[in-house]
Amino acid sequence: MMKTIAVMTSGGDSPGMNAAARAVVRTAIFNGVHVFGIYNGYKGMLKDDMQELTSRSVSDIIQRGGTFLGTARSKEFETEEGRRKGYENLKKHGIEGLVIIGGDGSLRGGAQLSEECDIPIVGIPGTIDNDVWGSDYTIGCDTAANTIVDAINKLRDTASAHRRIIVIEVMGHRSGWLAMTAGIAGGAEYVLVPEVKYDIDEICDDIKESYARGKRYSIIVVAEGAGSGVDIGKIVAEKTEIDTRVSVLGHIQRGGSPTVQDRMKASQLGEQAALALISGVTNVVFGFEAGEVVRIDLFEAVHNKKTLDPELVRLAHVLA
Ligand code: F6P
Repeated sequence: MMKTIAVMTSGGDSPGMNAAARAVVRTAIFNGVHVFGIYNGYKGMLKDDMQELTSRSVSDIIQRGGTFLGTARSKEFETEEGRRKGYENLKKHGIEGLVIIGGDGSLRGGAQLSEECDIPIVGIPGTIDNDVWGSDYTIGCDTAANTIVDAINKLRDTASAHRRIIVIEVMGHRSGWLAMTAGIAGGAEYVLVPEVKYDIDEICDDIKESYARGKRYSIIVVAEGAGSGVDIGKIVAEKTEIDTRVSVLGHIQRGGSPTVQDRMKASQLGEQAALALISGVTNVVFGFEAGEVVRIDLFEAVHNKKTLDPELVRLAHVLA
């Protein structure tokens, strides 16, 4: 049984990271284990920016987006000597194992640290992208999808008022999950994702025909990995000769108070990760599969690319 562990958040922040970190801290303390917080991700690990946390350190944060620990990307940590320096800082505090809350890039850094410095790592998938292999959920994806659907609802009002086409570019890095899920839930007419080829000429012809049949507006959701919303908006305006506007949602998708789903799942993953690490389990990522908590091999999680669920693609096609 470990006596001292640490927790950190890394990569793009996401709503629910605080709930996960809170669960790690309180589970460790509940089991009589010391827990350090590492501030500002791997950058903080390299600068020895870490301190022991108490139960009160994580009071009043479950409802907040972002991460109280801070996060940052670190070029130095991408080098072996950088990782070694981070490891030495962990050892200075007697830290025997590490919980990393972050996306696939952050978990990859943790896998390298574990391999090179032989320190137990347990990962929790924290990213709005929902692109971590082995899990059908990542912390923050539900809140981000709700933020996008709220934007679609608002944009549909003005699109209908002006009989306009509105192109909405959403995040997701190289994954189309956010665009597809929010596009379906938001009732978008078209959803463009990197995983599925699309023919912009065909889409424009389809829009023109729908307007000829009396349709008042059209919403096109574009995943950032499928192209630039501004460029696609220009093409659509030219080809359809219909008034078109573009909204690039940007970092609003990363903020906001986490939904119940994100808070609950983050709390479950945080507890499971802390218990596993404390009891000697290493190099796993805790995720969800069909609503159940699952353990994924850390190296498999970072070396495999998650694919978009074909069921989502089929449903979008049927309902558009
Ligand atoms: O990985 C989360 C994410 O929000 C991606 O969807 C997006 O492409 C990226 O981070 C933006 O990174 P940054 O916050 O560094 O601009």
